[in-house]
Amino acid sequence: IVAGDRAGLVKARHSLGIGPSGATLALVPTMGALHEGHRSLIRSAREQADHVAVSIFVNPLQFGPNEDFSRYPRTFDVDLEICADEGVSIVFAPSADDMYAQDRQVSVSAGRMGTIVEGAFRPGHFDGVLTVVLKLFNLVQPDIAVFGRKDAQQLAMIRRMVADLDVPVSVVGAPTVREADGLALSSRNRYLSPHERHTALALSRALFAGARGRTPAEILGQARAVLDAEPGVALDYLVLVDPATFTEAENGYQGEAVLAVAARVGATRLIDNVAITL
Ligand code: PAJ
Repeated sequence: IVAGDRAGLVKARHSLGIGPSGATLALVPTMGALHEGHRSLIRSAREQADHVAVSIFVNPLQFGPNEDFSRYPRTFDVDLEICADEGVSIVFAPSADDMYAQDRQVSVSAGRMGTIVEGAFRPGHFDGVLTVVLKLFNLVQPDIAVFGRKDAQQLAMIRRMVADLDVPVSVVGAPTVREADGLALSSRNRYLSPHERHTALALSRALFAGARGRTPAEILGQARAVLDAEPGVALDYLVLVDPATFTEAENGYQGEAVLAVAARVGATRLIDNVAITL
């Protein structure tokens, strides 16, 4: 069922018998241009609920003025085929006008955590993400929602929102899907020229090299050395952080950490991360 607006969504939920004491629903929020990473989220969602809803909405609120909102890839017809192929029950694809009233006032603030690491390079980005995700949760009313660990700070922020605002949705994280050579799948990879794609491999190579270190200093040093050796990579940040708070894991840190990188290759900005147990 393709729901193009909120009324269509209500009808779709009803006709599938979704609701209290009825069938369960898992939501996979996306901005479309679906790839194998999105497919794996859909498969994980299918294992955990009776029906899966995929939302496709390129959210203007989460793009900065100099970012790629207008040229973000839009491949709606192929996306629908992928959803059908993966057994998705509902595709929710609202227009920007349907999502955002002209006179809207109220939005979600990501707080201090929205201003660090990725948030320091993309002011307002996480406010925009959390606002649209909360709206999608309220509209679709899923029992669970699946997000990729590829966007590790986004996942952490959504978990924080759900805890802080008592949102009745279980948030599930799913592993990062990579190409055979290590490059993390991303809708933005299609911007890369063949040469840039080769250069971009330095990101995953750096993360894997870092993961072989034992202390924070060693991990960061080994990853840094790989990035420094690749002149085509303009680094925004390389950090080792607590996956729940995104604050730095200092020497002596114990437990799960995330080694996260963001860099520009040509005009394309890429992010990636790996989990490391210290
Ligand atoms: P988008 O970039 O389309 O990603 C949708 C979901 O797919 C996110 O949860 C993201 O983490 C996941 N994903 C992307 N690449 C992945 C990969 N290689 N492996 C596993 N999962 C991957 O993230 C967004 O859209 C938006 O910010 C959104 C949450 C939809 C709010 O607008």
